[in-house]
Amino acid sequence: MKGQRWKWLFVAFMSLSFLLVLPLHLQAIENSECLDCHGDPDMVKELPSGKTISLYVNPKKFEASVHGQNEIACTDCHSDITELNYDQEVPHPVPVAFVNCTDCHDEEGTAYEESVHAAARVKGVKGAPICYNCHDFHYTKYLYGDTVVQLENKFCLRCHNPNKYHKWLPQKKTHFEYVMCAVCHAPDVGRHINLRLYDLMSEKFLTGEEIVQKLGVTFDNFMDKMDLNKDGVLDTKEFHRLVRELRINKVRAIFWGEMTDNLKPEVHKVTKGRAIKKCETCHSIKSPFFDKVYLIFTHPTGKAEHYPLKRKVLQSFYVTHFYAIDATRVKLLDVIGLLIVLGGVAFAGGHLTLRILTIPLRRRRREGR
Ligand code: HEC
Ligand code: HEC
Ligand code: HEC
Ligand code: HEC
Ligand code: HEC
Ligand code: HEC
Ligand code: HEC
Repeated sequence: MKGQRWKWLFVAFMSLSFLLVLPLHLQAIENSECLDCHGDPDMVKELPSGKTISLYVNPKKFEASVHGQNEIACTDCHSDITELNYDQEVPHPVPVAFVNCTDCHDEEGTAYEESVHAAARVKGVKGAPICYNCHDFHYTKYLYGDTVVQLENKFCLRCHNPNKYHKWLPQKKTHFEYVMCAVCHAPDVGRHINLRLYDLMSEKFLTGEEIVQKLGVTFDNFMDKMDLNKDGVLDTKEFHRLVRELRINKVRAIFWGEMTDNLKPEVHKVTKGRAIKKCETCHSIKSPFFDKVYLIFTHPTGKAEHYPLKRKVLQSFYVTHFYAIDATRVKLLDVIGLLIVLGGVAFAGGHLTLRILTIPLRRRRREGR
């Protein structure tokens, strides 16, 4: 009990000192002051070699970034700049100190420290990434809204060519398109399935706004309207009703399924020698990777709603299945259904041919072979 009391006293003390510090923080240097100089597109610095580097920060793009949206100030990252002294030509010390992303993202830092990338960096391997070789720094966006292919392009594919490896993996293109690298390479992260609405005609993913608008709902009341039994997840029946609603409201799209990671700090623990190789890990009815299924509606900010669906939805009538055939012809993939055809959309688009070719197969499966 005594210990507890001290703990509370400590909390009270900390809160008090926080309150005292707060006004000081509010007097911190405004972004606009930095942008008076760095908001000029022509601002460059000349290096001794004669080359120039841009010192321009685009104010609009910064404001739209995840840090801008969360009111992170320039000096929260460039924390060694504590005052601006206009008597000097450069009103702050240069070079400016190294930015530590882990000041705020410590769990990501810990996971990263245990990765092959950190190890390579310690060994002095050229090009081994730190936080801001993978992520943007001034214009970082929320990652929720990104598809697997977008994430891979943004991250892993900039430095690795996966076709050089994975000789054992059939249908490489399909796997890389629908399975995020980290699903296999960050073995400690959780995985799930995302379904997004994809318009075959325009070959675009529909934005969350487009969908809620057409359905006449809002992001907030979508579940309320669709989850009839109020258990917090859409089951097969509710999902079929949603499919009907979409059709009635002329949303002409298919559901595009992807296997991705849980967007947790552990995604940074990319390891060597521990990546998933066994087909059955995914291609089995029991695979836990399909336990969580979400319907994704993106916001303009880059955030996205994740509406939970029952796993069974993937096996429902509307969701076509993909049955992979391996050498031994054991039953595989009873799982990820990528396409739901709504309202007789004509199939178009080259990269979907693979799936289309398997339609007869799937139809046969559905009819009990
Ligand atoms: C999320 C952290 C973060 C925030 C917020 C941030 N910066 Fe940076 N900034 C960085 C990092 C990281 C670098 C790259 C440093 C390096 O390359 O060593 C950088 C580099 C710079 C550079 C050098 C030129 C360049 O682009 O590499 C300038 C100038 C700069 N920042 C100004 C600003 C201004 C002005 C703001 C506020 C509008 C700001 N920064 C907000 C992290 C941040
Ligand atoms: C009066 C104009 C001015 C203001 C205001 C200003 N800077 Fe700078 N800043 C400069 C100049 C000039 C340089 C280039 C210095 C050099 O030649 O190395 C620079 C360089 C930098 C760099 C890159 C330094 C490096 O190591 O290469 C960063 C980061 C930076 N400023 C951040 C900021 C931040 C954050 C603020 C606001 C707190 C700010 N600046 C306010 C003029 C300004
Ligand atoms: C090798 C590339 C890479 C490096 C290095 C890297 N990240 Fe990431 N980061 C990613 C990927 C990939 C994701 C997850 C995207 C996905 O799969 O949805 C991610 C996700 C995140 C997220 C959102 C998920 C979460 O944990 O909440 C944050 C925040 C983040 N990274 C910060 C950092 C910080 C801080 C560092 C440095 C310690 C860092 N990253 C280093 C690639 C990288
Ligand atoms: C002063 C604190 C602070 C610093 C320093 C900082 N961040 Fe952030 N970062 C935040 C906050 C706050 C968010 C928004 C979190 C949220 O909304 O869930 C965020 C979000 C992110 C996200 C989006 C994660 C997602 O959920 O999609 C990424 C990626 C990210 N930061 C990377 C970085 C990188 C890279 C650096 C270093 C260049 C950095 N951050 C430095 C505070 C910080
Ligand atoms: C900025 C470049 C860069 C990015 C981005 C990047 N890596 Fe790496 N990666 C490296 C380097 C450099 C090594 C170390 C290679 C070595 O040790 O020879 C490495 C090592 C690896 C290894 C171990 C392979 C080996 O030969 O040791 C794997 C697996 C890996 N990365 C996967 C990923 C994944 C998955 C992503 C995306 C989340 C990613 N990398 C993003 C540069 C990068
Ligand atoms: C189905 C799981 C799976 C997926 C998806 C996957 N990998 Fe791999 N990857 C592995 C396995 C297992 C190995 C180790 C065996 C080998 O070298 O082929 C490996 C090897 C590698 C290596 C060489 C590392 C080493 O240990 O020598 C790199 C680099 C790599 N993968 C990058 C990627 C990138 C980038 C992506 C995403 C585009 C990706 N992988 C997608 C399972 C996967
Ligand atoms: C990390 C999970 C994972 C692992 C491990 C994995 N796969 Fe896949 N595989 C998938 C997903 C997800 C798809 C995409 C499903 C789709 O297109 O419907 C897929 C697609 C396929 C396809 C193409 C099916 C089609 O309809 O286009 C074949 C064939 C396949 N996998 C065979 C294998 C074999 C053989 C192995 C082991 C060597 C393996 N997979 C390992 C997840 C995995």
